[in-house]
Amino acid sequence: MHCRHLSSTGFSVSEIGFGGWAIGGGWGDQHDPESIAALHAAIDKGINFIDTAQGYGDGHSETLIGKVLQERSEKVHVATKTPPADGPWPPSPYCRWQDRYSAAYLRDNVEQRLRCLGTERIDVLQLHTWTSAWNDDPQPLLVLRQLKDEGKIGLIGVSTPEQDQSCVVQLMRDGLVDVVQVIFNLFDQEVAAQVLPVAAETGTGVIVRVGLDEGALTGKYGPAHEFDSSDFRHRYFAGDRMRRTAERVEEIRADMEEFGLADRYSLADLALKFVLSRPEVSTVIVGMRNVQQVEMNAHTSQLKDLPDDLLERLQRHRWLRGVWYGGK
Ligand SMILES: NC(=O)c1ccc[n+]([C@@H]2O[C@H](COP(=O)([O-])OP(=O)(O)OC[C@H]3O[C@@H](n4cnc5c(N)ncnc54)[C@H](OP(=O)(O)O)[C@@H]3O)[C@@H](O)[C@H]2O)c1
Repeated sequence: MHCRHLSSTGFSVSEIGFGGWAIGGGWGDQHDPESIAALHAAIDKGINFIDTAQGYGDGHSETLIGKVLQERSEKVHVATKTPPADGPWPPSPYCRWQDRYSAAYLRDNVEQRLRCLGTERIDVLQLHTWTSAWNDDPQPLLVLRQLKDEGKIGLIGVSTPEQDQSCVVQLMRDGLVDVVQVIFNLFDQEVAAQVLPVAAETGTGVIVRVGLDEGALTGKYGPAHEFDSSDFRHRYFAGDRMRRTAERVEEIRADMEEFGLADRYSLADLALKFVLSRPEVSTVIVGMRNVQQVEMNAHTSQLKDLPDDLLERLQRHRWLRGVWYGGK
């Protein structure tokens, strides 16, 4: 497993990280023993970075991770997230940080995160979402800095809202965040414009999420695939979205075949290697639900980098498809 630096002041993390959303629930059938086995397998394979959040089963994902880590001696870095207090998601331009991320709320929430994870210090605490409306008066991040000084938090991060990922550019330039968490994949390549270069310029760590577009970039879902109504992807791929996505995935597959890689790389490998081709990326947190997925994704790190001409070709799969998480 290859490792990279997470921010200039941070630690060395596995370039393939463990995305802990599905093990918290909300993704259809998922059983704790399978999730626990996946977490152990990930650590066995050298994965030392796990992303989670309060929102993944109201602390369930965090609790599972905390229990597994108590059984292990390896140092594994855990990044969790504090959501804003009740209100629109993502925060609207009219939301006040005083209502969503007040100092008292943040302090209380961080204590909850510590309890769920069963630790005395959170390696990375990310605000789960943000709005550029708060960029000029970013008090919540100053509260996190105090918590960092008090030793409750290692690194401070912000996870981008889907519709305005560039809102973190100013935060990075103002030295308010150690890491950012962004969407970057073969379809959504917008962070290549400014977020990634500014992260390099400022020494900010970059955690990439949704590198597989919620699994679609593995090519395993056909155009008529329907997710169970207990899986959030039932809404994410609602209407004709799965069909349109699957058609585009086949175009990516055709490129991979034309470049003669199809016998050595899966589509998931290609998608993750595309993300990892950017040196600004510290780790790509891949959602993993079982041991088999862990083994496949850990193996990706061993594969050779993609050739430059293929990387250039893959840029054409950039797809401006608007805001999907909010549903139609
Ligand atoms: N900050 C935020 O707001 C936010 C939002 C989204 C995600 N995240 C974080 O980012 C992580 C990654 O995103 P994600 O889990 O949503 O999506 P993802 O990584 O793009 O896709 C995960 C899905 O891909 C499939 N998969 C994974 N590895 C595979 C392999 N090798 N072969 C075939 N299928 C494979 C699995 O699908 P099946 O379910 O079909 O098995 C899995 O559930 C999350 O777990 C979470 O930690 C954060």
